[in-house]
Parts: sequence; structure tokens; C-alpha cells
Amino acid sequence: MPKNQTPVYYSDYLRLDKLLGAQQPHSSRYGDEAHDEMLFIIVHQVYELWFKQVLHELRSIYREFNQPKLDDKALYLVAHRLRRILTIQDLMNDQVGVIETMTPQEFLEFRDILVPASGFQSVQFKEMEIILGLTRGKRIAFDQQSFFNRLNAEDRAYLEELEQQPSLFDRVDDWLARMPFLQFEDFSFWEVYQQAVQKSLDQDEKIIRENATDDEQLQAELQGLQANRDNFAALFDNERYIELQKDDRVRLSQRAMLSALFITQYREEPAFNLAWQVITSLAEMDEKLTIWRYKHSMMVQRMLGTKIGTGGSSGHDYLRRTTEQNRVFKDFFAMSTYLLPKSTLPDLPASVRQALGFYFRD
Ligand code: HEM
Repeated sequence: MPKNQTPVYYSDYLRLDKLLGAQQPHSSRYGDEAHDEMLFIIVHQVYELWFKQVLHELRSIYREFNQPKLDDKALYLVAHRLRRILTIQDLMNDQVGVIETMTPQEFLEFRDILVPASGFQSVQFKEMEIILGLTRGKRIAFDQQSFFNRLNAEDRAYLEELEQQPSLFDRVDDWLARMPFLQFEDFSFWEVYQQAVQKSLDQDEKIIRENATDDEQLQAELQGLQANRDNFAALFDNERYIELQKDDRVRLSQRAMLSALFITQYREEPAFNLAWQVITSLAEMDEKLTIWRYKHSMMVQRMLGTKIGTGGSSGHDYLRRTTEQNRVFKDFFAMSTYLLPKSTLPDLPASVRQALGFYFRD
């Protein structure tokens, strides 16, 4: 690494003049400064800085997925950067407690002068959502409107352009669907897994029939088991799977879902280990973002009760609904429906195990 030519001074390097000069409460324009407005500004700014770092990581992860091939080195980098995002998300989730040290009454001292600014206009937050794969049709609207109506022309054009690009979700789907081992020589994961599922469900039925104490209980349990059989049948049947996608019950392509399942079930196989870490981290990222949404929505209820937001949404009610609806990697959670216990998993043929392992030569 080259040595620096000129001495560096701490505050110049960090541009602290700009950073620390950027907290300018508006309440002082209208009378006495509201003490808590400084906290409100700093907490938002700190979030925006972390959003910036998360976007920096997400864009680099996206670039890797955007390559025609994702080799092990690239996958390692992706896993490493995803872990960094998860650590930042923990911090962001904990940070909700800092803004909660402000009481609702203290907030009311300056709330009205913020209108119509709103979190809806956090371009970086919306950019994170869009890069991840929260498309227009998937996110919930507020009162039949879109947050796009709250943006200025420049921000709106920027995010609309971004929406036209394939998302990280799309790229992850492509990557999983490309996974070569679903069909390997004469081994078909689909067939082998289907037989194992059949065996496991038949075993469940036997246990239900042997242990039922009365007919009503028996019928109820058999009905539950049939629902399970239907779920599995849809996984293996192309047409039924497409129906699930149309009903918005699943978003991943069928091939990607099966690959994710294969990787998750056999994650101890060396070639699957990193891929499994990536899948798990994407699920965790979705979970942590949902936790942030939930904490933010609870904080908003505490601050505003049932008052509407400065951006015109129903406030707490809208935000609470985003925790249910605005999810991207939900399929990695739904996948558990299809998992089998390890003890009933079919053994992989030697040729597949050989291909999935790492070997050192003497
Ligand atoms: C007193 C504190 C806060 C209150 C009362 C509040 C209130 C609200 C409300 C009511 C909304 C819904 C949109 C609207 O109608 O305006 C919203 C959205 C949002 N807020 Fe906050 N907020 C607070 C703090 C924060 C903080 C610290 C952040 C961090 C950046 C933040 C980020 C956001 C984002 C990103 C949205 C858009 C969420 C989405 O559309 O899913 N808010 N906020």
C-alpha cells in the first residue's frame, strides 16, 4: 500500500465540519428551540448513515449475483458481507430505544413544523427495499396511494428507474435455479425426495390411525395430514406450483425452491455449506428488517396513538401492516413446510457425494 503524501488531520478526513454542521433544529425558527428536536435529527441522520453502509454492501452483493457464474470465492464474499449487514441491522433495531427516550409530549413540541416531511421520503430506505425485491405490486399501499406520491420529481425518477432493474431476489432465484445437482447423472433429487416424503407421510398416517382415541379426532388429524400431502404435491407438480405463485403463496420459482430445499437438507455437504449460509443470512435479513418495521410501528403508536402520519398514512396501522406484507425472502421461511427430519433423508449416491465434497491429495 502506498504511503500518504500529505499528513492527514482527523476532522478534515472525516469532513466533520459538514457532518457536525448538519444538525439544525427548525423549532428555533418559530420561538424557543424544542430540546428534543436535536435527538430527533441525530437519530434520523445516524440511521441514514447506516442505510448508506447497508446499500454499499448490498450493491456489492448484487454485483456478484449479477455475474453469469458465482464461484466459491464470490460466494464467500457475499456471505461475509451479508453478516456485516446483519450486525448493522441489530444495531439499527436496538437504536429504536434511543428515540423512545423522547416522550410523546416532547415530540408534540415540534411535530407540526415537520409537515409534510415523512419517512416515506427516505430514498435510501426505499432503495434498500427495491434492491432487495420489494416491487410495486408486492408492497402494501396506504389508503390506495403509493409513497411515490410523496417524493419530489428527482427522487421519484431515481427510484422508478431502479424498479426497472432485476432485484437481488430475482438474481438469487436465478442462482438457485442454476444449481447443477438437482439432476446429476442418473440421480434425480425430485424423484428421490418425493419417495422419502411419501414414506414419511405414510408413517405419520399409521401413527395417527394407531393413536386416535375417537373418530372425530381421527378425521381431524387425517384432514391436517391431507393438507400436508397437498402442500407437498404442489411442490412437485409444475402446474399446481404455478397456481401457488399466482395466489401469492410462494414467490420463488419451483426450481429455485427445490434447490434451496436440497441445499438446506444437505447443508453439511461441503459444496453446500456456503450456499446454505447465504440462504440463512437472506432469511435473517428479512426477519431483522421485519423486526425494525415492528419496533418502529410500536414506537409510532406510542408517539401518535391513532393520529395520521406527517406523510398522510394512517400511521401505526399502515406501519403494522407493512410487517406482514412487505417481506421479500418469506419463501425461505415457508420452506420449512417441506423439510424432512434428518433421519428420514434419503442417502445421496456416492457419485453425488463425491461431487459435493472437498478432497486433499497426499
Ligand atoms: C418520533 C419518531 C417517529 C415517528 C412519530 C415516525 C412516524 C412515522 C409514520 C407515521 C410513518 C408512516 C408514513 C407517514 O404517514 O408519514 C413513518 C414512516 C417511516 N419512518 Fe418514521 N417515525 C419516527 C422515527 C423514525 C426514525 C428514527 C426513522 C429512521 C430513519 C424513521 C424512518 C421511517 C421510514 C423509513 C418510513 C417509511 C416506512 C415504510 O413505508 O414502510 N422513522 N414514520
